[in-house]
Amino acid sequence: GKVAVLFGGSSAERPVSLMSGSGVLAALQAVGVDAHAFDPAERALQDLKTEGFARAFIALHGRGGEDGTLQGALECLGLPYTGSGVTASAVAMDKTMTKRIWLAEGLSTPRHLALSRAELTRERVRTIPDELGLPVMVKPPHEGSSIGISKAKGYSEMQGAVELALGFDDELLFEECIEGPELTCAVLGDGALAQALPVVEIRAVGGDYNYENKYITDSTEYLFGTLPAALEAQIQAEVLKAYRLLGCRGWGRADIMLRKSDMKPFLLEMNTSPGMTSHSLVPKAAAQVGLAYPQLCLWLLAQARL
Ligand code: DAL
Ligand code: MG
Repeated sequence: GKVAVLFGGSSAERPVSLMSGSGVLAALQAVGVDAHAFDPAERALQDLKTEGFARAFIALHGRGGEDGTLQGALECLGLPYTGSGVTASAVAMDKTMTKRIWLAEGLSTPRHLALSRAELTRERVRTIPDELGLPVMVKPPHEGSSIGISKAKGYSEMQGAVELALGFDDELLFEECIEGPELTCAVLGDGALAQALPVVEIRAVGGDYNYENKYITDSTEYLFGTLPAALEAQIQAEVLKAYRLLGCRGWGRADIMLRKSDMKPFLLEMNTSPGMTSHSLVPKAAAQVGLAYPQLCLWLLAQARL
């Protein structure tokens, strides 16, 4: 039947989704799938039913596409879709909620504070580095692609970082900054059958894997096989546990900091609709296990469900 590739959308990550979705659409069409572009920012979701679509491939990122709301709408329409369901999508879109679940189950994630707009007086902001040290990460918990995130290196940078992040969320996440290489580890499959792909080490210019270094420059390096085998296996096991605890299905990608001083991994977040752009990480990791981009898209589509 007809497949709708959902991309675009109206979140701050729309430009990223346009890149992910056009890649997925072209790949599915090239292998003979009757796939069509569908942008929920321009069309009513009910059109998916009236136009006879049988399944949806979600290549949306951020709010309204990755956060459970769209998944809930597709459930109501009875249209099978790729990736995680309502609850896992909603929890994983919230970095703070994700950390609370992981902490309760003994997984390691950087120390944090969650503070609301009302709590974030100038005096309170000034005390955050006393609790979490400097530099400190300031994050809007419901964004992706590093949008709205700052690494505040001193007290003087705190207020600007808070104001930037409050443009995206009403409650902010402050995290201890873990110095070390940034890693990512993708997962394919569901529950007990889920498998972790090889861990990727990211080397971004200036050590900062920000929006520019994610999607625009070609100078970011993505390396496989840099970790001792036992450490890589430990990270994969922790990521699988993290994925299962959130109830993810289909696919996901955990972002991790590896503390340089003692090689201890800290989980940052789980992405339930990972990037599929030409610069993105899941396609690179899948290629390492012999799964080329079009086959990855086909496999994900075959997992679509309600
Ligand atoms: N939020 C972006 C798309 C990612 O995690 O790949
Ligand atoms: Mg993310």
